Amino acid sequence: MCGIFGYVGHRKDAACIVLEGLKSLEYRGYDSWGIAVLPESGKSDGKIIVRKKTGKIGDATADELPAGSIAFGHTRWATHGGVTQANAHPHLDCTGKLALIHNGILENYHEIKPGLKKGGHRFISDTDTETFVHMVEEYSRNRLVSKAMQRAFNEVTGLNAFIILAARDKRLIAARNGSPLVVGYGDNENFIASDASALLPYTRQVHFLEENQMAIVSGAGIMIFDAKTGDLVEPHKQVLTWSIDQTVKGKYPYFMLKEIHEQPGVLAAIAADYTSQAEKLAATIDRSYGTYMVGCGTAAYACMAGSYLFSKIAKRHVNWAIGSEFTYQAEFLTPKSLVIALSQSGETMDTLEAVRKAKEKGASIYAVVNALGSSLYRYADHKMLIGAGPEKGVASTKAFTGKLAHLIMVAYAMEGSVKNGQKVVTAAAKSSQKVLTESSVRQLKELALKFRNVRHMYVIGRGLSYPASLETALKIKEISYIHAEGLAAGELKHGPLALVEKGTACIAFLPNDETYGANLAGAMEMKARGGYIIGASYKPHEIFDTYVHIPDAGEGTIIPNVIFGQMLAYELAVIRGLDPDKPRNLAKSVTVK
Ligand code: G6P
Repeated sequence: MCGIFGYVGHRKDAACIVLEGLKSLEYRGYDSWGIAVLPESGKSDGKIIVRKKTGKIGDATADELPAGSIAFGHTRWATHGGVTQANAHPHLDCTGKLALIHNGILENYHEIKPGLKKGGHRFISDTDTETFVHMVEEYSRNRLVSKAMQRAFNEVTGLNAFIILAARDKRLIAARNGSPLVVGYGDNENFIASDASALLPYTRQVHFLEENQMAIVSGAGIMIFDAKTGDLVEPHKQVLTWSIDQTVKGKYPYFMLKEIHEQPGVLAAIAADYTSQAEKLAATIDRSYGTYMVGCGTAAYACMAGSYLFSKIAKRHVNWAIGSEFTYQAEFLTPKSLVIALSQSGETMDTLEAVRKAKEKGASIYAVVNALGSSLYRYADHKMLIGAGPEKGVASTKAFTGKLAHLIMVAYAMEGSVKNGQKVVTAAAKSSQKVLTESSVRQLKELALKFRNVRHMYVIGRGLSYPASLETALKIKEISYIHAEGLAAGELKHGPLALVEKGTACIAFLPNDETYGANLAGAMEMKARGGYIIGASYKPHEIFDTYVHIPDAGEGTIIPNVIFGQMLAYELAVIRGLDPDKPRNLAKSVTVK
């Protein structure tokens, strides 16, 4: 969940490099941040210097940090211990010669900590993390730091990534079990990070640490070994293909806006380049006896939409579940079952847990994932990259519509005509472009201005527009903090109508499909109780107080519908003075349960 970046090499401005790396990773957590640097020899008695601050890293500079050629840092999304400077990482041992950053939850720290305290170790923070650095301090009294870390790592429980900066031998020593870490190979300099995209300005050659692997990173090289046996392991080097342009905001004020605008291009590329991948997944579904989709948050709504698409286009029942609920429904899985896991990051713990459970039952796993080398990507039996490019806005946008585009193509491939899938996705790309024209966006800005102070909004749809409603409401909630509820229009009369009063904002999705009439009835029910109807449709209707034109794209209309929802949520956030890239209390990749 946290951002991690480390550098060791020939440059003397390691702290600056780490600071820039952390800024590019801030989307992983932004409660607080910290950097540790080992000053050049003789400057600090061999002690590590640490700077920590609460709040976002923003425009921070490395001015207060000394020159040095080894440093690492962390942006935090608090799990254990409040958001305070003391709880921010890195944490030091008693000697000030070992520093630690950590991502995950050290589950058995309370069993270990009392013994360390008794032995004289001083604890400064309320975190579980600090226990680990004192363990390594204790064990390294009579052995190498790497061996001490290996012992400590094998004694703790939970899903974690740890990195120790060891002043004694000027190395970064890392171990992972559950939380992602990637090492990057440079020229007389090497790197470590929680996300490969942060390494792009420096290197494209990487190795993603496997579960229970450790790495010793020094300026001269990187050694990978097995944390259980201590045996050296040959790294599996991969070359990153994403471009740096894809990882920076460019002309846009926020990543979210950039990523929203990238969607037509991503969709067109999926339509053009992914037919054989769609056919491969379609054939795998065909061969399986029962298929289940699983994902969390936005990805879960993509699964839900997939369930409608497979039924409608391929006449197949493909069930779905939210990652954190899946384990309670997985008992019926058999070795013939297929589980399709959808995830932008490939690191969402609830999705990974669901997949592990499915594996226990012998099911095959098909990952549809955006991040190459991610845990889900490596764990799955079959994989398909979403191809949306790096996504940094916390609220997922292009990875969501990318998933939908793939699911449309797969459903058509199952029906026997992937070409029709291509046509639908291409039409969706064109319709999306229209939703993003200046005049359309101006209309959304006006709507945002009108509704910027409301307490509640409702979004209704049927069929494929039901997941579109849920996703639109989620986007509004996540980044504008306005309470929004997505509803199946048919359910209005079973309860939610009681909430509609004069002026209540109601978005209704009315695409050119079998849901039009029934959903219009829902909008009318809201209108009759005073609701203000924002009709997102291919044609106007007299009951709409505001008509938002969404060009028809067949089953693909769910995509421009959601893009309209993303854009409205974005405008609401901006007009309310909020940072849409960093919504409060949330993080992009949730690597804890
Ligand atoms: C977090 C993010 C959401 C995302 C969800 C699943 O909650 O804030 O935007 O939809 O995780 O992420 P994934 O990487 O698995 O798609």
